Amino acid sequence: MTKLNPEEIERFWREQNPRRRALRERLDARRLPYGVAVENLTKDWNLGNLIRTANAFLCGELLLVGSDVFDEAGSGGIHRFERMRHLPDAKALLAHVREEGYTLIAVEIDRKAEMLHRFTFPAKPLFLFGSELRGLSRELGEASAVRLMIPQYGLIPCLNVNVSCSIVLYAYVTQCFPDLEPVPVAGAKFRADPGSGQRGAPPN
Ligand SMILES: C[S@@+](CC[C@H](N)C(=O)[O-])C[C@H]1O[C@@H](n2cnc3c(N)ncnc32)[C@H](O)[C@@H]1O
Repeated sequence: MTKLNPEEIERFWREQNPRRRALRERLDARRLPYGVAVENLTKDWNLGNLIRTANAFLCGELLLVGSDVFDEAGSGGIHRFERMRHLPDAKALLAHVREEGYTLIAVEIDRKAEMLHRFTFPAKPLFLFGSELRGLSRELGEASAVRLMIPQYGLIPCLNVNVSCSIVLYAYVTQCFPDLEPVPVAGAKFRADPGSGQRGAPPN
């Protein structure tokens, strides 16, 4: 279990070589104008995996509301590349939403929610996901401009939170940025930036 520690991450980057830092800068330059917020996740591996999802879909920033612990094995170390921030509570999140001009979208199961496959995304969405046991708090649910739901067709009452996040981000990125060039594939993996000096990066 790892607690988000911005000082440790800063220290880490001070010790990295310039090529690795340049890799992060190139990634940052491609980030998309949206954010993800998660409220009080209780299972640290879910957050670890969700950090990977945020990275794969060039998330602008990832906000951890309340709980800020995650499984580093789940994040695969990519948390050091992500723009992550801890906010203590719902009030702090709502202040951030106002400051940044986000449209807050509660991703939640609700009879009145809009269905993902028919949804038109706003210009600067902040997708908000609830905890594994309780879903979203009433305060954040009510403060959201929109509720958005992924249709389900089987017996299971809800999806895993990282699975939900992956589906929503995939739908958003492919609909709103259809011409975005995916990272090239080498073998069975997306290829790490060859100029990065990263271990395992294939030769030019
Ligand atoms: C495991 S679910 C929480 C369910 C919780 N037991 C409840 O009844 O409220 C965790 C989070 O995943 C997201 N989620 C899961 N399935 C979803 C769906 N079909 N549509 C939208 N969001 C979903 C929501 O953000 C939810 O708060």
